Amino acid sequence: MRRAFLCALLALSLVLGSACGAGPEPAGEAAAEDLTVIGMCQVGAESDWRVANSESMKAVFTEENGYHLLFEDARQKQENQISAIRKFIQQQVDYIVLMPISESGWDSVLQEAKEAGIPVILVDRGVDVKDESLYAARVGSDFLREGRAAAAWMAETFRGEAVRIIHIQGTPGSTAQLGRTAALEEAVAAHENWELLVQLDGDFTQAKTYEVMTDYLSSLPAEADIDVVYCENDNIAFGALQALEERGYPCGRDGVRIITFDATRGALTECLNGRISLAVECNPLLAPLVEEIIQTLAAGGTPEKRHYVEEQVFTPENLTQDLIDSRKY
Ligand code: AHR
Repeated sequence: MRRAFLCALLALSLVLGSACGAGPEPAGEAAAEDLTVIGMCQVGAESDWRVANSESMKAVFTEENGYHLLFEDARQKQENQISAIRKFIQQQVDYIVLMPISESGWDSVLQEAKEAGIPVILVDRGVDVKDESLYAARVGSDFLREGRAAAAWMAETFRGEAVRIIHIQGTPGSTAQLGRTAALEEAVAAHENWELLVQLDGDFTQAKTYEVMTDYLSSLPAEADIDVVYCENDNIAFGALQALEERGYPCGRDGVRIITFDATRGALTECLNGRISLAVECNPLLAPLVEEIIQTLAAGGTPEKRHYVEEQVFTPENLTQDLIDSRKY
């Protein structure tokens, strides 16, 4: 660790910890100096995916692995993320790891980090900045590709039939929302008999989706014709399922087809039992890739700017209980 201020604080906390009888042998200043300090700013805990992503980070960036992790949960607010970054700059951390809530509004604070000489690594979502040198690299999913995989499944499943679609979106302006929405909108434009009935904001949460979906269904005539609900994450799918089934809409092969993104264990279980028709994977286990980038930077190298992870699609036909049991999230 190269930052004197934080190093002194860290050494003090280690000594105090051992004086109070907490933890193993006093590590002392020398051990604290060896730790790489990471200031990490997470979006929140809005979804199962997000929780798995935070757990992945906490499992890799441990003191045993040579890191001291300062973890901030922004509770879904960009202003909290900006304040956390400014705090990390004051604390002179070695690296900032940022999961940006939305794409816009980052130029100034990332410029401050650059001027302080602290590399910023983006995880999951991206940022829309004028100067790409404001961040070292981004690790995450190709959300447009995920959305296109869902659209391809719809085209294959409905083969020219009319398709009436409800679209429930994630946090407005986030990379995940923008990519998955763009893929659906381009597919609707390309299929003259696909109809987008409504776009609702589910903010990636089950509670908000249940509320907006219940309101929307109440505004329709009973047993309206709905073929697909395109849900921009698993928690949105859970809220939509709950609202649909409460109003008497069966979900699955003989009813409304639910499409979801993330493919966490809960959604895969619903997919195996047929209530969810398609689960497009979005991999939250990104910490090992972040660590590789840090190692490259620490060795004086230049990491690739974008690292996309490989992902699959699941349907009731290709899923098994063994596969679900073997997954880490
Ligand atoms: O940015 C990734 C998305 O954010 C995941 O699909 C969602 O579950 C999360 O909240």
